[in-house]
Amino acid sequence: MCGIVGYVGGQSALDVVIAGLKRLEYRGYDSAGVAVLADGGLAAAKKAGKLVNLEKELVSRPLPAGSTGIGHTRWATHGGPTDANAHPHLDNAGRVAVVHNGIIENFAALRAELAERGHALRSETDTEVVAHLLAECHSATGDLAEAMRQVCRRLEGAFTLVAVDADEPDVVVGARRNSPLVVGVGEGEAFLASDVAAFIDHTRSAIELGQDQVVEVRRDAVTVTDFEGAPAEVRAYHVDWDASAAEKGGYDYFMLKEIAEQPRAVADTLLGRIDAAGSLTLDEIRIPATELREADKVVVVACGTAYHAGLIAKYAVEHWARIPCEVELASEFRYRDPILDHRTLVIAVSQSGETMDTLMALRHAREQGARVLAVCNTNGSTIPRESDAVLYTHAGPEVAVASTKAFLTQLVACYLLALYLAQVRGAKWGDEVRAVIRDLAGIAEEVERVLETMEPVRELARSLAAKNTVLFLGRHVGYPVALEGALKLKELAYMHAEGFAAGELKHGPIALIEPGVPVVVVVPSPRGRSLLHDKIVSNIQEIRARGALTIVIAEEGDESVVPYADHLVRVPATPVLLQPMVSTVPLQVFACELATARGNEVDQPRNLAKSVTVE
Ligand code: M6R
Repeated sequence: MCGIVGYVGGQSALDVVIAGLKRLEYRGYDSAGVAVLADGGLAAAKKAGKLVNLEKELVSRPLPAGSTGIGHTRWATHGGPTDANAHPHLDNAGRVAVVHNGIIENFAALRAELAERGHALRSETDTEVVAHLLAECHSATGDLAEAMRQVCRRLEGAFTLVAVDADEPDVVVGARRNSPLVVGVGEGEAFLASDVAAFIDHTRSAIELGQDQVVEVRRDAVTVTDFEGAPAEVRAYHVDWDASAAEKGGYDYFMLKEIAEQPRAVADTLLGRIDAAGSLTLDEIRIPATELREADKVVVVACGTAYHAGLIAKYAVEHWARIPCEVELASEFRYRDPILDHRTLVIAVSQSGETMDTLMALRHAREQGARVLAVCNTNGSTIPRESDAVLYTHAGPEVAVASTKAFLTQLVACYLLALYLAQVRGAKWGDEVRAVIRDLAGIAEEVERVLETMEPVRELARSLAAKNTVLFLGRHVGYPVALEGALKLKELAYMHAEGFAAGELKHGPIALIEPGVPVVVVVPSPRGRSLLHDKIVSNIQEIRARGALTIVIAEEGDESVVPYADHLVRVPATPVLLQPMVSTVPLQVFACELATARGNEVDQPRNLAKSVTVE
């Protein structure tokens, strides 16, 4: 939800900021804008639409060269995606410019107050009030960082702000409450950004800002305080991936690259967590074993794809660790007064670590005394910072809005956690745990095998480009996979897509079946739980009898589905609980290809942004 970049140093601020915005465009692409300090003044340009529109504008109306600047790429909340609502926003004298990520909840009152004092506000945004307030405070204090502190004390809601003032040409100031902001520290230059990807070409030295902090960056100094002005503690860290990880690397889309990276991401997430004897070593779980033993329930909170990973985690936690597990959409969680106490273990799953709904859910859980463990892909982000412990997934940066490799690695982390709970609570013997770990260790190779056989899936997707609806059915762990397949299709192909538990079919959804409707069925393994398998084979026959076009995902060697499959997609045989690791992959490829066939933007689907940092 909005990408922010700030720069001060020896290079052209405009070039650095535009390059940074390109890396952050996944966060929002409704409009883009920049401001640079040059020749004793401030020059700005902004344009509705993607960054490319701004770049064209800068060719026809170049800005003067300067070495301090800020930029923004927007996901609109208050005010439509127009030039006027694009950031940066300036004060009336055009001396202060500010960019913002988040929502300022009390902006209406502040706006009315500013209007009374004679300020003319030109946009419909909540952000513009900040530029005017900063200008007032700056003229009183002559210090942009102090002005920012004074303004932040008056703001309600979630905000990352980055501002410059023409009277302080070598300074960029930022502030952070609930939304992300990191500092990049280079040689004689400094950066502020929503995500390290914006400055990874220049430096891998980063500083993680805490909640309610204001940062002032100069070429050779970074000063961080709280909103009252007291010096604040921060954590410096080294970014452990390089610029190539944030590039397409020869693929047409980031999503294709990220799908292809899944075997490596899965293997990396297991790395260092299995010892030489094949046992589980999760040193990072700093919650004492006694507490894990005493926990009487697990609650997983997450959104979107991460929620689907949580739904699968439930099967593993309950089956292996024999502890009740609830899974809840983070956006619903705290509003229903959930029963939580010190014996509840909450698992917050999030790729970005910044999803506001998940953050609010975990804060609520901690307030009630629950222990919170984050499963997260982004080092130093807010969700792990505010959790009692974190199990990082090692997917590397995920840029495409549609989540793929993050999902598979979330599954790996959840399987590991479930096994760890089983180990600590004595629900499984050591050799049983080791047997599952052996299966998990082989999964990366199986994912690779699935990827090698995807051409027929792509062909099938292209042939369905004109359809309006695709339905997805699954049972057991195949049900969340069906939900995930439908979510991918909605967000990428903009088609009506729904996932159902196959057993629910006859309770209503079967009315949607009419001749030619494609239905993707995720068939569980015939081994182990064959009753489940046989039931879904009956479901396939029921929909086929009503004219559905059946697309069956079934494991190699399962011949019983062959007569009922109009299209058969084979996945390697895996233990029942691990099947989502292989059965999700064809659905990702299917959605990506359908989106392309329909002429949609794969990496930046309409109306979406990668990190949802507002509720
Ligand atoms: O960063 P998070 O994992 O917390 O994000 C959660 C969802 O917003 C995310 O998974 C979203 O549903 C994806 N765009 C789905 O592909």
